[in-house]
Amino acid sequence: EEQKRELTERLMQLKKERNAIILAHYYQRDEIQEVADFRGDSFLLAQKAAQTDADTIVFCGVHFMGESAKILAPNKTVLIPDERAGCPMADMVNVDGLRKLKAQHPNAKVVTYINSSADVKAETDICCTSANAVKVIQSLDCDEIIWVPDKNLGHYVQQHTDKKMIIWEGYCNTHDMLTVKDVVEMRAKHPNAQFVVHPECRPEVVAMGDFVGSTTAIIDYCKKSDCQEFIVGTEDGTGYQLRLDSPEKTFHFATKFLVCPNMKVNNLKKLVKCLETMKPQIYVPPVVADQARISLERMLQV
Ligand code: 13P
Ligand code: SF4
Repeated sequence: EEQKRELTERLMQLKKERNAIILAHYYQRDEIQEVADFRGDSFLLAQKAAQTDADTIVFCGVHFMGESAKILAPNKTVLIPDERAGCPMADMVNVDGLRKLKAQHPNAKVVTYINSSADVKAETDICCTSANAVKVIQSLDCDEIIWVPDKNLGHYVQQHTDKKMIIWEGYCNTHDMLTVKDVVEMRAKHPNAQFVVHPECRPEVVAMGDFVGSTTAIIDYCKKSDCQEFIVGTEDGTGYQLRLDSPEKTFHFATKFLVCPNMKVNNLKKLVKCLETMKPQIYVPPVVADQARISLERMLQV
């Protein structure tokens, strides 16, 4: 506790000196969410990065999120506490593979989940997040869509559109681990609870949801709902905001494995250190960034 207080004080001082803003994804450790200027899902944080007038953005999340911030705010310094915080799903698609698919389907538009690298975004017509995926698809004037990289979210979106979707086979290791059996067991233990689930989970698990939505959508739903008890089918860091909003409600995470190890690589100590040393910084080659920005800005307009 003593060390935490010292670190927090140092952080506040550095934040002022560097004119920095701290953005934290809901999957970050509590100690990071506690000191953030904004907590949010990937959509909200991308918006904040695009709008801020701070000189420095510290992005507490995984690498692709820092990249998106840098692409949207190219003149700012973007720091991440630990550059090893990657996203295995983002690494499941690369430029060569995507180009091959584009060649096979020349009339299709490419919709890329924001969980992807900058060079994949540069090959993309429009990005989306789990919060706006259906809206983004509906905004497009075409019959065929190449969807990368999340097959589970792709399957969910396909249920809301008549467009033909060619879906890449990527997935999130963390959300994809949740099974029907896990949920059945939890429902038996907590018969009064509603099951709220992220569309990165498997289709058969998503189908069991009383509510399906992005991290922010789940948080909003639980806050507003009359229900007092929830089984949560998304990453366990979400518990911080859920409990903050509704201390009187009960939240059971659907398994103890709903933890993204990449998100947890960051901690308060590394956050303070990166502002002190101004390292590691996110760098995106300007040619790639200029291309990728088009697809991100299109998403923000939708
Ligand atoms: P959202 O923040 O869009 O809910 O995405 C979840 C996720 O897995 C982020 O890495
Ligand atoms: Fe990637 Fe899944 Fe972790 Fe999000 S929760 S960063 S999609 S591995």
